Parts: sequence; structure tokens; C-alpha cells
Amino acid sequence: MLLLAPGPVNLHPEVQRILSLPMIHHRTPEFDAIFARARQGLKRVFGTQEDVFLLATTGSGGMEALLVNTLSPGDKILVVVSGKFGERWAEMGRVFGLRVVELNVPWGEAVQPGQVAALLRQEPDIRAVFCQACETSTGVLHPVRELARLTRDNPDTLLLIDGITAVGALPMPMDEWGIDGLVAGSQKAFMLPTGLSFVSLSKKAWAFAEKSTLPKYYLDLKRERKANQKGESAYSTPVPLVRALDWVLSQTLQEGLANLYRDIERRALLTREFARLAGLTLYAKSPSPSLTAFLTPAGVDSQKIREELELQHGVTIMGGQDQARGKILRIGHMGYIRDEDMLKLFDLLGHAFLKAAPADWSEDKITKINRALRLWVEAHP
Ligand SMILES: Cc1ncc(COP(=O)(O)O)c(C=O)c1O
Repeated sequence: MLLLAPGPVNLHPEVQRILSLPMIHHRTPEFDAIFARARQGLKRVFGTQEDVFLLATTGSGGMEALLVNTLSPGDKILVVVSGKFGERWAEMGRVFGLRVVELNVPWGEAVQPGQVAALLRQEPDIRAVFCQACETSTGVLHPVRELARLTRDNPDTLLLIDGITAVGALPMPMDEWGIDGLVAGSQKAFMLPTGLSFVSLSKKAWAFAEKSTLPKYYLDLKRERKANQKGESAYSTPVPLVRALDWVLSQTLQEGLANLYRDIERRALLTREFARLAGLTLYAKSPSPSLTAFLTPAGVDSQKIREELELQHGVTIMGGQDQARGKILRIGHMGYIRDEDMLKLFDLLGHAFLKAAPADWSEDKITKINRALRLWVEAHP
């Protein structure tokens, strides 16, 4: 199988090897060293002096950790809803008894900081603004840095960011920008299987945490912080994932984070070049480098295309959800991906489009696109 979805992603062969090593206990000096190194590495990826916690939960658990550790019942929050994952935070807020103000943004568009600023002026009792850095259901990149400018000097309002398809894929320096809570997920730019989420709080967010009364137990970051201060995790730790994380972080930081960002962006540019050559329209008006979403040719059901690629060729990409279902394809740029994997995908897509829309496609068109993409790859080493 070739995973070219926006998470989970293809694994590096060395990660696969590390994951199959004999198990060790998580309360051993050997694991303590790995755990400490991984937490230090994460601080560099997050661009923070604060602690970054490794939670044995998927990304959604990390989202919940940010929410339940900072807020109290009845608090008013502003949630940017521009796709499935924005909806998730709004739902979560309601489940926990928060007063949720939704800022609905049309799918495919980024939030305008001016709208957030206006709402914050109108409703000064908003305690936290929630937004995705990249909304994976649309491929949009939101202007996190500009949002942080609206909240960083206000001690009463936090900015909590879902960086699950952004952290590690593009710069998201938490301290420098003034992000108060940031969550990332192992199955994205960290190139691991699903199962870990990483979360961090700013000093301002820790002040909120001191007063927060929402119920929490497993995701209680104070408890986790106390354990980390002794070099331990609060609960059992998925040792294989943390060992593999340690390897990925060591490699990435040795080669430089900028190289990882560059590789991911290069794949995004290659995919946009494919879309241009194929005459396809990008779905996101401000596309993220971590994934590319484009509309399928008129009359072509994107769901059928993705099923064909998966069932007949063992290549996984994603279609659209809800209002974008059947209309878009989403291709991930994170993980262990080689140029030939990308070129294979574009050839398969060309042939799938030819089958679905023979009036607009031909073998000749596919050959020309393939040749142009190969030249693009050679020209952009
Ligand atoms: C932006 C974003 N937020 C949240 C999630 C949820 O993460 P998980 O499925 O790991 O719980 C995802 C998963 O794709 C995501 O892309």
C-alpha cells in the first residue's frame, strides 16, 4: 500500500524496523533517556520553552486536552468553523458546557482575522479562540500568526490552535507568535502511526489551567507535568511509538527542520503543477503545504476515483467529506514519500480521469503531463 493521504502517512523503513523491536518497559533507565530526548526534540519543533506533553491518544484527545485544561463550565469561546475539524471543536465545547460562538467560514476559505477581531470587540468575555492551523477537510491554511496578534497582549483570551496537519509540516513557532495552546499528531508530519498527540500550553494558558474547573482525569496536564518533572509519564506509554518518535526527531533536527518543511512544500508545489497541467481547480483559496485538495473534473465523482486507486492499485488518497463529498480529492504531502510515488499517483489519476471523462482526457494528454512533471522534478531537486 502507498499512503498518500493527509494522515496517516507512509512510514520510513527505519521507523518500521524500530516499531518491531522487542518491547521494553516504560519505567526503565533506557526508556527514560528516550522519553527525555523526545520531549526536548518536540520543544524545538513546537518552538517553545514550555513543556510539550506526549499523550497516548489520537489528535482529537489532544484537542480535548487543550480545552478541558484551560476552561471552566459556562465559559464563552469563539470557534472558527471552516470544515470538519472546526466542527469538532465546536461540538466538544458544547459537550463540556461551554457557550460556543461559531465563526462559520465557507469551506475552502481561510478565516479573515478582521472578523475575529470584530467578534472579540463585540464579545469581550470570549475566553478562548479555537482554530485549525490547517483545516484538513479543505486543505486551507489559516493565518495563525495574525490571529495570535489579536490575542497575545490580552491576558483574558487564549488562542488555542489545532496544528495536527501543520506542526512539523510548516513553521508554527509557538512562543514567537504567541500561540497559547498547540496540539500535533503523530500520524502526520511526525511520520509515525496514529496513537500519540503532542500538546503544549503557554504561560498565559497555564494561568488559565490553574483556575480551570472542567472535569478531566486522563487528560489532566497538571498530572502529566508533575510526572514529567520526575522524568516519567503519568500512565503507561506506547514505548514503540516513542522510540520511533525519538528517531524521527533526531533525524529531522540533525538535517534541519527547514529541510523537512522544504520537502513537504516541494510536494505541494508538484501537486499544484499537476493540477495546473490537468486543468483542475484547487479547492483551497489559501492552500496549506501539508496537503492539496482539488476539484475533480466536471461530472467525475471523486469518491469513485479514490476507491479505484485504492482497490485496484493499492494507493490511498482521500476524497471529500460532507459538502465536498464526491467533489474533491485530497493528497497528503507528509510522511515518507519519494518522487516516484508522486509521479505514479499522477499517472494513475490521469488514467482514472480518462476512464471517467474520456471526452476531456487522452493517453496523449497523460503522456505530456507525465513528461512535464518529470522535468519539473528534475528542475527542482
Ligand atoms: C486538523 C485535524 N484536527 C484533528 C484531527 C483528528 O485527529 P485524530 O483523527 O488523530 O483524532 C485531524 C485528523 O485528521 C486533523 O487533520
